[in-house]
Amino acid sequence: MVTTSYNFDLTAHNTFAMKVKCNCFMEYTTPEDIPFVLSTIRKDVDMFHIGGGSNLLFTSDFPGVILHSAIKGIEVVDETPDSIILKVGAGETMDEFIKWCCDSGYWGLENLSGIPGEVGASAVQNVGAYGVEAGDKIVRVHAFDTDSHEFTTIEKADCLFGYRTSKFKLKDEKGRYIIHSVEYQLSKTSDPKIEYPALANRIKDLNIESLSPHVIRDEIIEIRNSKLPDPDKIPSAGSFFKNPVVTEEQYQNIAKIMGSTDFPHFKVDDGYKIPAAWLIDTCGWKGVKKGNAEVWKLQPLVIVNPTKSASPEEIISLENDIIRSIADKFGVVLSPEVEHIHP
Ligand code: EPU
Repeated sequence: MVTTSYNFDLTAHNTFAMKVKCNCFMEYTTPEDIPFVLSTIRKDVDMFHIGGGSNLLFTSDFPGVILHSAIKGIEVVDETPDSIILKVGAGETMDEFIKWCCDSGYWGLENLSGIPGEVGASAVQNVGAYGVEAGDKIVRVHAFDTDSHEFTTIEKADCLFGYRTSKFKLKDEKGRYIIHSVEYQLSKTSDPKIEYPALANRIKDLNIESLSPHVIRDEIIEIRNSKLPDPDKIPSAGSFFKNPVVTEEQYQNIAKIMGSTDFPHFKVDDGYKIPAAWLIDTCGWKGVKKGNAEVWKLQPLVIVNPTKSASPEEIISLENDIIRSIADKFGVVLSPEVEHIHP
């Protein structure tokens, strides 16, 4: 079924609560609706497919068509004594699916508990938190290819998952595939991932003999609540910036400025990953307000819209000030993690 609305208010469809509109909003409930929906949209009209709208910043009203999948359902496609493969509709809420997995005793996604967004976008974005990325558990993605006008299946190896990225975000492929379901493989035997320091400490303090996905889920939700704004009360789009990877030279420059190498950094193949939160914090941005936009006081990687009245311009102005200040102090240029949707 397809529902079409005109001059549609997108406030409830972006977690930043930007008060923006689109000319047309189309929501569909089955994969077979996708070719029909596309056939109704003129070639010269801008089109953008959203998920839960949790990683987007609409920079203004959108003068085209916004698509949204309301495809639901969790289906078992394969099962062994040790593992299960579940095919999940792109329009399922990721955290509701994760809760369902934890309730069923399936291991693998519990570290992503509380993550906003929908299942389709989890594959596009390769969402990650507390040592786990969605792509680790995805086996294949089912989509409609808007180039060939055919339904297709993309196996994990071809999804090109990386840090907050995938094939579906590559410049040449962006918008080509409309994902309608994602297959996740989960473990039926105990498989906790508790290396992330804050999680390891909490689990140790619990002092319990056998862990369950639900125990880990509850701890993750506690950690998130202690750092991140409550999505029901304080609009944001989660981490606003990516953690940058800097060169040896930039790393040495930061060490010189700080007077030691005693600052958070992680050696990676092509340099050093530095937490953007640390860079922003060190430049004094925690809790800073600019107009109605604000840097979250507990996790400066998050920009919030606490009064629900910030305009896209106010968010972008704060974003630019942060980028400039970090570039001036450390010579590192942050890139936004949040996707900016321009008309
Ligand atoms: N830090 C500070 N000051 C702060 C907060 C953090 O200096 O106020 C430093 C600390 O050194 C800390 C480090 O930053 O050890 C990293 O912080 P944290 O472990 O909280 O994670 P993050 O790198 O800031 C990433 C994801 C989050 C995810 C967390 C937990 C990105 C862009 N963000 O944040 O994802 O929840 O790890 O795994 O990779 C999201 O994508 O929306 C999101 C919230």
